Amino acid sequence: MRIAVIAGDGIGKDVTAEAVKVLKSVGETFGRRFDVEHLPWSADHYLTTGETLPANGYQMLREFDAIFVGALGDPRVPDNRHAREILLGTRFELDLYVNYRPVRLLDDRLSPLKNRGRKDINFVVFRENTEGVYVSVGGRFKAGTDDEIAIQEEINTYKGVHRIIKHAFEFAKTNGLTRVCMADKSNAMQQGHALWQRVFKEVSALYPGVTATHQYIDALAMFLMKDPGQYQVIVTNNLFGDIVTDIGGALQGGLGMAASGNIHPGKTSLFEPVHGSAPPLAGKNVANPIGAILSTALMLETLGARDESRAIEDAVEASIAADQTTTDIGGTLGTRETGEALAARLKEWAAA
Ligand code: NAD
Ligand code: IPM
Ligand code: MN
Repeated sequence: MRIAVIAGDGIGKDVTAEAVKVLKSVGETFGRRFDVEHLPWSADHYLTTGETLPANGYQMLREFDAIFVGALGDPRVPDNRHAREILLGTRFELDLYVNYRPVRLLDDRLSPLKNRGRKDINFVVFRENTEGVYVSVGGRFKAGTDDEIAIQEEINTYKGVHRIIKHAFEFAKTNGLTRVCMADKSNAMQQGHALWQRVFKEVSALYPGVTATHQYIDALAMFLMKDPGQYQVIVTNNLFGDIVTDIGGALQGGLGMAASGNIHPGKTSLFEPVHGSAPPLAGKNVANPIGAILSTALMLETLGARDESRAIEDAVEASIAADQTTTDIGGTLGTRETGEALAARLKEWAAA
């Protein structure tokens, strides 16, 4: 399998080194070869060359079996141009419409909620990933003056809304789940979110075995804290999904734990931790690499390497149980030592 790796900026570099280590280790364990190609696209690269990604960059990416990204974002690029072109650009150009973000607590001790544990925190969020307010349709008039007008449109298309909602129901059906909750803000956003309402009714009618519920996004944010056990599958738009999955990160013990896939079923897809480049933590060997490592597990699952994916997840759970983790989740190890412990665990299992 050929994997493009964009470590990116800040702790993206730190966690990616460990994700690649674990990937190589699982490859050795299962006798599978991963050809990892590192692409230098990052803030450093942009600031030294003026290039975010090459003119044929998206085409280059399409030729890999999968793409792994650490994180993009650097205070030296205040308009975030390189991150928008590399990350959002790839989501749009490769039409990675499914943002798959599982929220699964791996150890009761990591729960931030009183009296809630593993059995209560186990759901997936499907975030629409190619539309919404992320499309950058709009503009600024009289920018920089007191008369400035800034317009940022939210785009919702029938095709875009339909395919993500359908994907959520298909996921539920395939995985024996019985509840899908759609979250929008149709009480205030009566144009675009009326479309979400209409499509949700249309698609849910095709899945009589799945209970379809709706919550406004503000209420959903509240219930995620109060009663996360009610959710199995959440489907929502691009911006709300972004926010909700940082809450999801907290529910898993911290943002460093959360994994994600940006997927177009059957095509080259991109996998990355949910967190960003966390500049204050960069290069200090403190960032938690588990979100990145679990993202490689999602990548392998999506590529059909289920045993390998499962092995990574099992090793992560075992490492957490043994407190072989970074300090943000109560361990004493650094980023590198956490990655090495996981890689060693996989090798031991292979030998046993
Ligand atoms: P962030 O996710 O980088 O960090 C927020 C806080 O979460 C950190 O200060 C830290 O306390 C904690 N955290 C995050 N990841 C962690 C890890 N692996 N281990 C331990 N703690 C961790 O969010 P931010 O500070 O808002 O953004 C920083 C930069 O990252 C910005 O430029 C932003 O645009 C970018 N960003 C990129 C991505 C991405 O590439 N997918 C995602 C989010 C933010
Ligand atoms: C994420 C990030 C990105 C997003 C940023 C870096 C543009 O927060 O992947 O969750 O908002 O999608
Ligand atoms: Mn985010």
